[in-house]
Amino acid sequence: MKTYPLPDGTSLPPLGLGTWRMGGGMNADTSRDAEVLEALRYALQIGYRHFDTAEIYGNGHAEELLGRALRESGIPREEIFITSKIWPNHLTYDGTRRACEGSLRRLGTDYLDLYLIHWPPSLPLEDGFRALNALVREERVRYLGVSNFDVPLMRRAEALSETPLLTNQVPYSLFNRDYARNGVLKHCQEHGILLTAYTPLEKGRLANSPVLASIAAARGATPAQIALAWLLAQPGVITIPKAVQRRHLEENLAAADIQLTPEEMRALDALA
Ligand SMILES: NC(=O)c1ccc[n+]([C@@H]2O[C@H](COP(=O)([O-])OP(=O)(O)OC[C@H]3O[C@@H](n4cnc5c(N)ncnc54)[C@H](OP(=O)(O)O)[C@@H]3O)[C@@H](O)[C@H]2O)c1
Repeated sequence: MKTYPLPDGTSLPPLGLGTWRMGGGMNADTSRDAEVLEALRYALQIGYRHFDTAEIYGNGHAEELLGRALRESGIPREEIFITSKIWPNHLTYDGTRRACEGSLRRLGTDYLDLYLIHWPPSLPLEDGFRALNALVREERVRYLGVSNFDVPLMRRAEALSETPLLTNQVPYSLFNRDYARNGVLKHCQEHGILLTAYTPLEKGRLANSPVLASIAAARGATPAQIALAWLLAQPGVITIPKAVQRRHLEENLAAADIQLTPEEMRALDALA
């Protein structure tokens, strides 16, 4: 898998594992913990080193499960890249610091690699960034980013952040080009900001596209793999598919090594 160089000389695997609906939805649900822990352990075993979570996922329980799997794996912390996200109504100065400490405690780590504002807040961005900047200075957070921000909001966040934003995490897939149409993809690419594509699989629609099916069949790949390879072929685009089933975890990781031809890219570009 190619990796993205980070400003401090380390690197980021462009395909990470999403954790939404691991450990519950907006509330904690422990009924499938064994299955989720098994998926996280297997992901680490086969080579996933980049994980995306949020304080809101399972009301903190996704972070707890991920933290447990990471600890048990014995893999050195510096080999793992962990993203978490602050829920927008916590974005006061004190609330931001408390939210970050909560995520660190649940994950069982003393720093986050990337901390995102999950959605545009109704609270002033200034207060949140004062706290976020302090967290970076105190080495509780390595990089800052945003999620679901449009271009004008990104510009405000870029101006308030003392360090360059690493990413804007947005919905982007073969079947959802909203953030290409609204200029965010171009803005990210022109300013050296990664676009992290969430919900990259749009499961139902993957199965129903004849173009995708024929490209996948010709390569002996699955439609999901082609959908991920299409994202990763674009400059500055990374992605975080969620999977619990072993077959899905394996397929998605392997998709990062598929190189699409210019003709295949053109056919896929035209799908939207
Ligand atoms: N920032 C935000 O506001 C935001 C919003 C949504 C999501 N996210 C992040 O992005 C991550 C990914 O998005 P998502 O969870 O919404 O959707 P997704 O990754 O597009 O889809 C996940 C679904 O696809 C299935 N799947 C995984 N790999 C597959 C494969 N190779 N073939 C067929 N099906 C496959 C999974 O099944 P199994 O689980 O059964 O394997 C699961 O049902 C989230 O987990 C979260 O970390 C962020």
